Amino acid sequence: MPDHDNAQPHGHASHAQPHPHGTAPGGEDTNEAIWKSDIGVTFWKATAADRERRRAGHRVLLAELLPFGTDEAFTFVDLGAGTGAAARTIMDHFPAARAILADYSEQMMAQGAVELTPYAGRYEYVEFNLAHGGAWPAGVPSEVDAVVTSLAVHHLNDDRKRELFGEIRDHLVPGGWFLNYDPVATPDPVVQAAWHRVEDRRDPSAAAKRGHRSPEEQLRWENHTRYMVPLDSQVAYLRAAGFEGVDVYWRELDYAIYGGRRPATSA
Ligand SMILES: C[S@@+](CC[C@H](N)C(=O)[O-])C[C@H]1O[C@@H](n2cnc3c(N)ncnc32)[C@H](O)[C@@H]1O
Repeated sequence: MPDHDNAQPHGHASHAQPHPHGTAPGGEDTNEAIWKSDIGVTFWKATAADRERRRAGHRVLLAELLPFGTDEAFTFVDLGAGTGAAARTIMDHFPAARAILADYSEQMMAQGAVELTPYAGRYEYVEFNLAHGGAWPAGVPSEVDAVVTSLAVHHLNDDRKRELFGEIRDHLVPGGWFLNYDPVATPDPVVQAAWHRVEDRRDPSAAAKRGHRSPEEQLRWENHTRYMVPLDSQVAYLRAAGFEGVDVYWRELDYAIYGGRRPATSA
């Protein structure tokens, strides 16, 4: 999961066409099986150093976008937190911040507990399957100051993305921010070719890797792209959910940070 979280060894911009409405074209949804397997998490750990180097600056921007003073105390939720990469960056940036890390993978949370040792007392993991609607787990306070998510929302189908954005809005204090750092798809083959061009300049073996995935890499790839949709629709879902200040705050090729805040004078 490389450039593409759980996808292939060194891919960057090799997205499949988005599936209409984010639904799988008859394929099994293997997301849960991958994230809850030891082998999936071992792969995640093995590729972490390379990925973290590239992603670190993007996660710093997530922190910088939050409207808190450096020493301010606040509580935020990291949805699909995995081993806590985004939450750790935010806690580094704001020494008085407290994190609720939500994920459904026992394996990722176990590894996260190791990586979060220096943050003991400042965070809690909560088991949460984001794919299911309904009440959020009791471990998440009914109102939090901010919600972030990093490389996770693309694992949810579009109906669930839409619904989740509404739930996030309802869990934010008035004026509370939501930021999502995630890969996106394109329906335009010219855009996709441009993404591949950059990928191939950065990694001369990328084209060969795209064309010759092992069965395991192919499975990861399909899991990675199954529900990935263009950025515009996701930004529209956010507006429809009632967020204000909605914008794409950063983008490079097929990765973006977008978000907005619950209106300060909330209905
Ligand atoms: C690519 S990893 C990203 C982890 C972390 N946010 C980061 O940026 O490094 C995706 C994470 O989303 C979690 N995830 C995927 N689908 C989920 C779901 N339906 N409910 C909860 N967590 C989910 C996985 O267990 C995994 O930890």
